[in-house]
Amino acid sequence: NSCNVAIVGATGAVGEAMLRILVERKFPIGNLHLLASARSAGEKIEFGAKKIVVEDLATFDPSKVDIALFSAGGSVSKEYAPKFAAAGAVVIDNSSAFRYDDDVPLVVSEVNPEQVKNRPRGIIANPNCSTMQMLVALAPIHRKAGIERINVATYQSVSGGGRSALEELGRQTAALMNFQDADPQRFPVQIAFNLIPHIDDFQDNGYTKEEMKLVWETRKILGDDSIQVNPTAVRVPVFYGHSEAVNVETREKISAAQVREMLLSAPGVEVVDEPKAGGYPTPVTHASGNDPVYVGRIRDDYSHPRAVNLWIVSDNIRKGAALNAVQVAELVLAERG
Ligand code: A2P
Repeated sequence: NSCNVAIVGATGAVGEAMLRILVERKFPIGNLHLLASARSAGEKIEFGAKKIVVEDLATFDPSKVDIALFSAGGSVSKEYAPKFAAAGAVVIDNSSAFRYDDDVPLVVSEVNPEQVKNRPRGIIANPNCSTMQMLVALAPIHRKAGIERINVATYQSVSGGGRSALEELGRQTAALMNFQDADPQRFPVQIAFNLIPHIDDFQDNGYTKEEMKLVWETRKILGDDSIQVNPTAVRVPVFYGHSEAVNVETREKISAAQVREMLLSAPGVEVVDEPKAGGYPTPVTHASGNDPVYVGRIRDDYSHPRAVNLWIVSDNIRKGAALNAVQVAELVLAERG
């Protein structure tokens, strides 16, 4: 029951993690095609004991592929995902190109796996990293008590901006330590030793697109357009792992103790919640390089009769992108029986 797989954007930060996770999870791969732009075609990438040559997406024949994992940006997905689907591949797309289309399911593997089957266009979308980790933790609360409103501030690592963003944080940090200028290129202002309340484009309503993704995607994934989301998205000088300070208001009262108990057995969640030094998750001590969505600082909101506070941390490249895409691929594979 092996399957021919393509990774589109294989040389990128997410593509590289997809490859690693396919190996870790022993995904039954027949032929593996690593695709990128003409710039990196011909490079060799290690896959287990083998080395695989990167191929140029523009000249690749998509009929060779059963499942294609796309992570090469929205414009590449818009152009090539329909071509792969037309050639018979199931496309799992990590960009925002199709996320808001009614005929494209938006799937978090622990939350709405049943949606994978509803893919008339042969395309399944992977949610934004911030929405992904938030909903792994909040879906059990929604099922139990009904979420009315979510107030969320994100603390997002630079790896969400791809390899060039990782390099910019490293370069600026070294430059500033050596009394040189930060010279921002990838980010609008200096990111090293700073915070930037601006991710993705500004919208007409004054929010950024990254913030609106939390609104649109939460409603679509939980299947409830009445859920209110009030987001602020901030880029922080962390390499890997997004953190979120979340206040969730529920229709029915649910206590912090109940939430903690529920999350202890929730799929994909690990509770790290002791009120002592280090008794909480951080990007460096917990998330980076690991699969779970870590939840800590679970507290009753003393200012509201039906609200709870949580601190949610996860590796944005893994659960936030590559891992979920591979988990969705596993769901597609399972359909074959
Ligand atoms: P390449 O290395 O050839 O530029 P990241 O998000 O880490 O920056 O990675 C983006 C990924 O998308 C890389 O693998 C990059 O390949 C790939 N990519 C970008 N533009 C294209 C394109 N026009 N065609 C194919 N792959 C692309």
